[in-house]
Amino acid sequence: MIKIQGLTKRYGSFTALSDINLSVAQGEFLVVLGPSGAGKSTLLRCINRLAEPTSGEITVCGQISSSDSSSLRKLRCNVAMIFQHYNVVPRLTVLKNVLTGRLGSMPSILSWFQIFPKADIDIARQCLRRVELVDKAKLRTDTLSGGQKQRVGIARALAQNPKVILADEPVASLDPKTSRTVLNYLKQASDELGITVICNLHQVDYAKEFAQRIVGVSAGRIVYDGPPEGLTEDILQLIYPDGESEEEQSFAA
Ligand SMILES: Nc1ncnc2c1ncn2[C@@H]1O[C@H](COP(=O)(O)OP(=O)(O)OP(=O)(O)O)[C@@H](O)[C@H]1O
Ligand SMILES: [Mg+2]
Repeated sequence: MIKIQGLTKRYGSFTALSDINLSVAQGEFLVVLGPSGAGKSTLLRCINRLAEPTSGEITVCGQISSSDSSSLRKLRCNVAMIFQHYNVVPRLTVLKNVLTGRLGSMPSILSWFQIFPKADIDIARQCLRRVELVDKAKLRTDTLSGGQKQRVGIARALAQNPKVILADEPVASLDPKTSRTVLNYLKQASDELGITVICNLHQVDYAKEFAQRIVGVSAGRIVYDGPPEGLTEDILQLIYPDGESEEEQSFAA
């Protein structure tokens, strides 16, 4: 589903990612762990081409990604993003936020006037049902809690009918109980819908609990790639050489 070969990303003379090689299968739930500045976000940004790799090749859904517009269009169709700060439009209703996930497959004239075909509204409601928010469909999104906003973010990603979801620290701003709820919805997307999920996390505990496979990144290099059970103290030391790993109770609300 995703194949990364020899990916290097430099910012000026600084190397953020160095010779990354990684293959991710369809439906896999992969967690990327690593200290702040390790290169986790840069990796996701290179996969969806928000950042241009310095060298290396990335294949998504059988297509070698490049920055030409037709390749980017296909890539953006196949890959949905979920962000730490939700990126929902506060004054739009919950349903309209989810419908923005359908914009890529809708004639733009309709979206300019916010006219949504019934089929798209049905899809959006179905996605809201998946994250158990259908009763909030008509509310303005700024009336929702953080966890609910992130569930809207997930529903919007699902409405896009993606093959891949990239989630960049989706629970970093949430308390432990809400974090587990949100991670469960992402896990269900991979288990039940066969969506490949790559999720950046700070918390080792959640990675152990939810990941099918963990990739540990430190200073721009992969230092661990294996099952959660393999995450021993020695491996954690490799990923977090300065002992920076975050426990869930230290979340910042
Ligand atoms: N646009 C940019 N220009 C210059 N340097 C950058 C840019 N984006 C990222 N970097 C640098 O690349 C390194 C990796 O950044 P990245 O955001 O990928 O880390 P991260 O693992 O996501 O960290 P965090 O856990 O804090 O989100 C950092 O040292 C960062 O300063
Ligand atoms: Mg980051």
